[in-house]
Amino acid sequence: MGHFCTGVTVITTRDGTEPVGFTSQSFAALSLAPPLVSFAVANTSRSLPRILRSGAFSSNILGAGQEALGRRFGSPRQDRFAGVDWRPSPVTGTPHLAGALARVDCRVHEVLPGGDHTIVVGRVTAVAHDGGDPLLYYRSEFRQLRS
Ligand SMILES: Cc1cc2nc3c(=O)[nH]c(=O)nc-3n(C[C@H](O)[C@H](O)[C@H](O)COP(=O)(O)O)c2cc1C
Repeated sequence: MGHFCTGVTVITTRDGTEPVGFTSQSFAALSLAPPLVSFAVANTSRSLPRILRSGAFSSNILGAGQEALGRRFGSPRQDRFAGVDWRPSPVTGTPHLAGALARVDCRVHEVLPGGDHTIVVGRVTAVAHDGGDPLLYYRSEFRQLRS
C-alpha cells in the first residue's frame, strides 16, 4: 500500500477546551449526496474516543510546506498543538490549522468496524480552501509535486 500516493491531513477535534489531532493519509471523499467523507483510524488511537465523544471533526488538508505538521501530529508526542497556529472552526469549534490547503468540517455520521482500525464517516458541514500545492505521502516519505 506504500505505492499508493496520498495527500496528508490532520484530523482534529476538541476534548472540552483541549485541541486534539492526528495525521491521517486515509482521509477520502465518499459521497456527494449526501456529502460524506471518511477516514480510518487505529483502534488504539487516543484521538478516536475523543472524536466520537465530541461528534465532530475537521480534516485539515496539508500544503506542500507543512511537512513538519505532518510529522508532529503523526508522532506520539503529547503537546502537538504547542506553538501551532490554529483557530476554532466557526461551525463546529474543532481546530483549523493555519496555512492548510483546505479545511473540511464534519459531524460524525457513522462509525464502522475495519479490522484493527475504525472507519469514521463524516457528514460535511462546511468547507474552506486557500489553494496551493499539496503535501504528499508515498512509500513512507513526505513528497511534493514536481511540476
Ligand atoms: C503520513 C502519515 C499518515 C498517517 N495516517 C494514519 C491514518 O490514516 N490512520 C491512523 O490511525 N494513523 C495514521 N497515522 C499514524 C498516526 O498519526 C499516529 O499513530 C498518531 O500518533 C496517532 O495519534 P493518537 O493516538 O493521538 O490518535 C499516520 C501517520 C503519518 C505520519
